[in-house]
Amino acid sequence: MNTAELKKELTEMIEKAQDTSALEQVRVTALGKKGRITDLMKTLGGMEPEARKEAGQQLNVLKTEIADLIEKQASMLKKQELDERLATETLDITLSPRPRKKGSVHPISQTQEELLSIFADMGFKLTEGPDIEDDWHNFTALNFPPGHPAREMQDTFFLPDDPEEEGERAKKVLRTHTSSVQVRYMTENKPPFRIICMGRTYRSDYDMTHTPMFHQCEGLVIDKNINMGHLKGCLMEFALKFFEVDELPLRFRPSFFPFTEPSAEVDIGCSREGGGLTIGAGDDWLEILGCGMVHPNVLKNCGIDPEEYQGFAFGMGIERIAMLKYGIPDLRTFFESDTRWLSHYGFDPLKRPNKAHRG
Ligand code: DAH
Repeated sequence: MNTAELKKELTEMIEKAQDTSALEQVRVTALGKKGRITDLMKTLGGMEPEARKEAGQQLNVLKTEIADLIEKQASMLKKQELDERLATETLDITLSPRPRKKGSVHPISQTQEELLSIFADMGFKLTEGPDIEDDWHNFTALNFPPGHPAREMQDTFFLPDDPEEEGERAKKVLRTHTSSVQVRYMTENKPPFRIICMGRTYRSDYDMTHTPMFHQCEGLVIDKNINMGHLKGCLMEFALKFFEVDELPLRFRPSFFPFTEPSAEVDIGCSREGGGLTIGAGDDWLEILGCGMVHPNVLKNCGIDPEEYQGFAFGMGIERIAMLKYGIPDLRTFFESDTRWLSHYGFDPLKRPNKAHRG
């Protein structure tokens, strides 16, 4: 019996089988019920014991070797077939990217951050007060005489009386200015102090330059021996930093507010040459804020002795100075939530707003 010849023949057949069904054919030919090795096994019965023993051993070895070869070829073919499938059956499961929508910081928030940064550098502390005020904090304590036009219907939003309070404190209004926060702070704290406050204010008015809700920034300094020179220096410093210029003409124009004496409105120099607006040099003026020395009556109303302490205050519209700095023409657009406007005038949220000014 020549098993070497048969082994060679079967091995070739196995190697030639290039897919699993061809290999299965070879397995049947070699090891199946009527296969070549099986047939030879059947002949063992008619042999002499010695020869049978030897031939039996050879056939068993051959059977194992062929079975091993078939198994190896099978796993090789399986891997090959899988690779082929993986290469051809591709499926793109990635989603097409959505356009990047980036939010932006609203010019009012940006301007508030800038104001805070500038005044914080000058030692001002940030405070706040309620939007719903009472008549006493909004008007009376601020030295508004009875019947003053600012209390009239056309300006103030009046709210129903608070049944739990009495007199002027029961009369509720939406604060018409942040000056009410001065009163709150002065009645609750002992001087000296330097504070600013920023927030919403409300007046019944609507056109290109007025909206029923707008924002103000208020400053108050109370100490011993404070004079108008301090006020001027403080506002000069603010204006240079805020408008990011090295020089800026400031004009203090006499004015009137019930809660300051003397009172002034501050204008900055500008030029309207060529249709545009340039802040700084030029022969035109733009009003940016109201200010003055705190009226002795206000100090008294808040429990501060005007013989011992004096101070100055100022208040400005945040939208107004933002419009001037960033060239925004219409106040109403601040509150329209038009995303095109917001992405044009808004600021990068990742840029620190308080780095916007020179420091
Ligand atoms: N409260 C004033 C207004 O709303 C602005 C103002 C003027 C505030 C003078 C002040 C000040 O603190 O001293 O028009």
